[in-house]
This record gives sequence, structure tokens and C-alpha cells, in this order.
Amino acid sequence: MCGIIGYCSKNGKASQVIFEDLKRMEYRGYDSSGVAMISDGKLLVKKGVGKLEEVNRKYKLDKIPGSVGIGHTRWATHGGVTQINTHPHCDCRNEIAVIHNGIVDNYQELRKDLIKRKHRFLSETDTEVIPHMLEDEMKRGRSLEEAVMAVAPRLEGSYAFLAISTNEPGKVVGTRKGSPLVVGLGKNKAFAASDSMALAGQIDQLYMMGEGEIAVLTADKTVFFDSTGRPISKKATKPDAVWNDNNKEGYEYFMLKEIMEQPDTLLAATHQDKDVFTAVALDVLRADQIIVTACGSSRYAALVGRYLFSSVGKKFCEVVMASEFQYFAESVSRNTLVLAISQSGETLDVIDGVELARKAGARIVSIINRPQSLLGELSHNVLYLNCGPEIGVAATKSFLNQLAIFYLLAFSMVHSFDMAVDNIRKVSRQVARAIDWNNDVIAGITKEYHDKNDFYYIARGINFAIASEGALKLKEISYIHAEGMPAGELKHGTLSLIEEGTPVLVICPGDFTYKETLGNAIEAKARGARIIAVSDVNNEVYDHWIRIPRVHDLLYPMVSVVPLQLLAYHMATRRGRNPDMPRNLAKSVTVR
Ligand code: F6R
Repeated sequence: MCGIIGYCSKNGKASQVIFEDLKRMEYRGYDSSGVAMISDGKLLVKKGVGKLEEVNRKYKLDKIPGSVGIGHTRWATHGGVTQINTHPHCDCRNEIAVIHNGIVDNYQELRKDLIKRKHRFLSETDTEVIPHMLEDEMKRGRSLEEAVMAVAPRLEGSYAFLAISTNEPGKVVGTRKGSPLVVGLGKNKAFAASDSMALAGQIDQLYMMGEGEIAVLTADKTVFFDSTGRPISKKATKPDAVWNDNNKEGYEYFMLKEIMEQPDTLLAATHQDKDVFTAVALDVLRADQIIVTACGSSRYAALVGRYLFSSVGKKFCEVVMASEFQYFAESVSRNTLVLAISQSGETLDVIDGVELARKAGARIVSIINRPQSLLGELSHNVLYLNCGPEIGVAATKSFLNQLAIFYLLAFSMVHSFDMAVDNIRKVSRQVARAIDWNNDVIAGITKEYHDKNDFYYIARGINFAIASEGALKLKEISYIHAEGMPAGELKHGTLSLIEEGTPVLVICPGDFTYKETLGNAIEAKARGARIIAVSDVNNEVYDHWIRIPRVHDLLYPMVSVVPLQLLAYHMATRRGRNPDMPRNLAKSVTVR
């Protein structure tokens, strides 16, 4: 959440580059944005509320002169979405500017103390304490990096921040704790950013910043220090070329592009090292207990994984919401295997849990999409989704590939990795059919239901998590209330909400859950529900039939989730929402 970028060059046009890089990080936050540049020894700051393009139209962020600057795209935490709360934030003398991702937990005490010492605050943000603290340190004669080294240990919480100062105009200084920060170098240019994707195609060397490390960037030279201020040499990695691809390829929205490319990305999920899967499968089989931890869609994928582990590998595992993991920390031991699932590899709730589990001696295996992530660094072993950059805020192709990885892992437990690869390859064709058959049908269905306020999604067994995932997709991008639940639960309370015309989405494939799920659909229908069924089998009880191809029982989640993504997408666009940037949300959730 929040994208930060710092850039040192020699060409006087740094703000253009900063603006373009911010565009690539807009999925991290899009309620406001701003840029600060050092130009002729002066600090120039422009910022405003709204999507980046709108702010740029109004304030010309990309036309601010200067060779060195910083930029920010915000997802508000402390302080409302106002111009004054938009980053960058400055010190009293307008000589230092700071951008920040994360939360300074102790900002209230720090702010009170600074105000006592006559610092003037303009915003309600936690971030603003940082430039004022740096100001104090620089007044004592410290350089910008010495000031950062003095201030960072006094900040509690999580942060990645970048600072510039008119006293040292060629420099950007950055540090991180808990929130991500990478440094990228090209010829006569240096970048620091929340995300390596922002730097796509511009750098030759990439450095992952460790906890507490400090980077001092200039166009010619970049140096690193550890948290005690000792110079360190860091190993560069080569930026991954695939992650350079982030255009919409003619689609109106990234979400639609990402839904449509799923038959291909699913194939990419099978490009795996069998030995690694075999080793992880052994870890799973040997562990006394397995805890899967994840948030949101990733957790729903884990719930499908739990069925696969149980029915194929005969191994039970517990799925714990990452934000609740800490409350179960006492149960984690050396014989626990923690399986952490995260598209971004950055979600702070997941990282927190994994850190706790590591301290307790647990083995950590992660399933991640993004290369070079914080979660990857904390894991003993990582399995990658291979679905390329996912820009739309709603998880689509990453969810499907998470299902595929669980499928491969479950079958690796019974020495059937190769068969599982073949099955997924075949199912990728069925995913393509599910899209072809349904895209227009679903757009038509939304005509009838786009003004409804409540949707219920039901399914059973391995398909239940798909009901939850479908409901999450609908609510997050179309802002319609939706609930997903096991179909058998409906009668234990929620059925009282069903009235004439209430839409009930029934995921009812012709598998071992079919009869009972259909029975629950009939019960809902008897109370006036309109039944929209996702199934390979038609039935007179359905008001709308979203047809999916027949596949093996354990593969239905992969084909039934796709029409639900399309339903959410068409509902959102019909209601005039931008599905790529739903209100109040952002893609990488790096706050607690
Ligand atoms: C929903 C969605 C979120 C994420 C969740 C976890 O469409 O995208 O619910 O699944 O924030 O994110 P990752 O997988 O990056 O840890």
C-alpha cells in the first residue's frame, strides 16, 4: 500500500520518469499523489487528490524541473484523503521532503514532542514527523544519511521512506523496516522504489533492501549501510524480464485482460521443478501439523488446497486467516510446517505470522507470485505461481494459479506430479471454454441484477471456497453486498434474508456435492430466490444457467471460479465502477 519512488539522474527531467514509474505502482494506492523535486537548490512540491492522471492534469507533476526527486501514490491510513495529507511532506523550512509507505505507530508522542519544540505541522499524517525529525538532526550538522540513521531507530511500526534535502541536492536517502524497498541502478541513474516492477526496463541491477538498511543514492554512485551505520556491500540481482510486461493489450481494464489470459497463465503454473515439489510434499507429509496462512482470495485458494491435501494426500491442515495467526502462535512448534500463500509476497499480516512461526522454529514454505519479495526472503522454500504481473486490484489469474499449485502439491504427495501437470494442461482448455461460453451470457445476466443490493453464493465441499471467492470479487469491485457460504449453512440463519427476487449464486457442478447443493438451491427458490447456477448440468430450478465444462471432480474449482470473476467484472462496469481500482482498496496490503 502506497507506492514510493526516488530517482537521481543528471538530465533535469527526472519528474517525467518519476511520474511514469508512479503509474506502474498506482495499484498500491490511488487516492492521491505527489512529487517533490530539487531544482536550482529549491524544493518544489506538487500534489493533489484523485487518480494519478487527474492529479497530473491539474498539477503537472511530470513537468517539475530537476534531476533528483521523489514521488508517492497514496492509500490513506492516518489522515483523510486531502491535499494537505498527500505526500511528500516537508520540514518547517521547506528544505527536506519525505515520502513514506507504512505506519509510524508512535507518531503521536513524536509529534507532541516536536510541537513542543516549535515544529509546525500541516497534515494529520503519521509521516510528517519524519521530515521534522530529520530537520532537527540536520540542524545539528548531520548529513542527510546521518540524519536518517539517527531518526529511523526512533520510529516504531513499519516503514519504507525516502528523503531529499536542498542541502544535499544530488541525493536520495532511503531506508525500510517491515515495508518493502528496492534499489535499482542503470547508467548514470539510480532509483529506490516500493516495487521492482516500477523500474521495469530502466535498470541493470536490482538490490533488495534488508531490514534497517540505508541506501544513499546519487546518479553516479549508490552506497549501502546497515542499521548501525556501517557500510555494507550488497549483492545485485538481475531484474526479471517477464515483470516488465504491464500493459492492457487493448483491453479496457487490466482485470478483463487478466481474466482472459488465464488459459495461458494456468499453463505457466505447470512450468515447475518436480524435485522442489517432491521435497515440499515430503515436508508436508512429515510435519506433525500444517498451518496454512493467507488473506482474502489467497485464503480462499488455501481452503480449496485443504480439501486437496485431505482427499489426495490424506493430510489434514488448518487454514488460519493471517491477521488472526498471532493469536494461535502458542500452537506453533519446530514440527509445524507453515504454508504461507500470497500473490504479492508483501502482505504484512502474512509476514507477521511467518516471522512469529520462524521464531518458534517452524519450517516455512511459501506460494508466491512476485519474485524478490519479503515473504520469499523469510521462507525456507518458495513455490512460484508464474502468472506474471497482476495489476488489477482484484485477484484473478493469481487465484487460479494458486489452485493449480495446491493441486500439483497434493498430487506430489502421492508421487503423481506428472499426472497432475497433464490434468492442469487439459483443464486450461476447459477454462478457455468457460470464458467463451459465458462472457456474453454473463454480461446479459448483469442487466437484470445490477441494481440488487445483496447476493448470496453457496456451494459445498471443495467448491465452497469458490462461493466465498465469487462473493468477495463481487463486493470488492461492484460494491454490492455479497456473502459466500457452504450451502448447508444457509438454513442455519441466512435463509431468513432470502425474499422474492434475491439472487442466489449456486456453484453446483456435477460432482459429489451436486445433489445436496441442488437441494439447497431448491430450498432457496421456494423462498423466492432467483437461482443463478454455475454448473455443467442444467436443471429446471435454475433461472439462469452459467454452463461450465465437465471436468474431474477435483478440478471444478478451476473452471467454476472464472465465470464468477466475469460476473463481478461485468457487474462493476455496468454500475460504472473502475474494476482495476476499487475504492478504499489497494493491491499490496502492507499495513496491519
Ligand atoms: C481480492 C484480493 C485480496 C488479496 C489479499 C491477499 O481480490 O486480491 O483479498 O487476495 O489482500 O493478498 P496477497 O495474496 O498479495 O497476500
